Amino acid sequence: MDDFVRNIPKAELHIHIEGTLEPELLFGLARRNHLTTPFGSVEALRQAYQFDDLQSFLDIYYQGTQVLRTEQDFYDLTRAYLERAHSERVLHTELFFDPQSHTGRGIPFATVVTGIYRALEDAGRRFGLSSRLIVCFLRHLSAGAAMETLEQALPFREWITAVGLDSSEAGRPPELFTEVFARARRMGFAAVAHAGEEGPPNYIWQALDRLHVSRIDHGVRCLEDPRLVERLQRERIPLTVCPLSNVKLGIFRSMGEHNLKKLLDRGLCVTVNSDDPAYFGGYITDNFLAVQQALDLDRKDIHRLVRHGFEAAFLGEQEKNRLLAEVDRYVSAAA
Ligand code: ADE
Ligand code: ZN
Repeated sequence: MDDFVRNIPKAELHIHIEGTLEPELLFGLARRNHLTTPFGSVEALRQAYQFDDLQSFLDIYYQGTQVLRTEQDFYDLTRAYLERAHSERVLHTELFFDPQSHTGRGIPFATVVTGIYRALEDAGRRFGLSSRLIVCFLRHLSAGAAMETLEQALPFREWITAVGLDSSEAGRPPELFTEVFARARRMGFAAVAHAGEEGPPNYIWQALDRLHVSRIDHGVRCLEDPRLVERLQRERIPLTVCPLSNVKLGIFRSMGEHNLKKLLDRGLCVTVNSDDPAYFGGYITDNFLAVQQALDLDRKDIHRLVRHGFEAAFLGEQEKNRLLAEVDRYVSAAA
């Protein structure tokens, strides 16, 4: 089973590029940029990765981003993730980035997006790895700040597929960002939003009805509202679930208590993703293995989860079908 999971072709749809910053690279970039960090060593930093909730993680995550300064830093960060993804048989990935965590420190939007995009292009050439870029608004900041960020993204319209919404969820409902999402959609961006991670099911309704998102990031709290589950089923709205993240941030007390199998059995389009793998102890394969073992998933479950990833991707029909056929061929050959 482990080899089946390791080698099955995958799509990843919920990964924050800043959340792939491994301690070794963090220290390397700090040295290169002549910065001191509040963490003494790689080991001390890993030790600090114990979280009580989303906010306690975000505090450390934003601190980590401060070593990212130059276009080359963003290139190196993204290249390291893409090499790892390729080694785990990720054929397609859709990356979030948080420009406000950089522009707020005086790093130009162009520096961030150009470094990331160059690495995506290189991975396309080197590995045939396809990718999309999703610009996220930080919901703990104002809607006005999100609008400014959207304006900064417009010159890079061709490189960016969708807008997203992340950061501290509690008390920051999606409806606050209705106007900026409306403008983004008028400009032709697709939309996604983190909702129902720590926040209530009502935030998922708002993401659908006010922001008009085509996917929900996390969404695990939907099970508290049967009408919402029906809606998600009927409209086949994908949920990008991140199992290791959910346990590390206390959404579920243990992997055995995770509701992923229940979501899958309700016929929802659930996908498995890594969120912030440098902080949560594993990349996409580790996430699949963790749920497979804790929830006793069989090959059919894994096959369904992987198919959902490609189905939910921002890819054209033809490319989707080509990649789905590759998954199905792999599963048939492994039988
Ligand atoms: N930013 C990075 N990871 C996040 C998560 N899991 N939820 C909200 N914002 C995030
Ligand atoms: Zn996330």
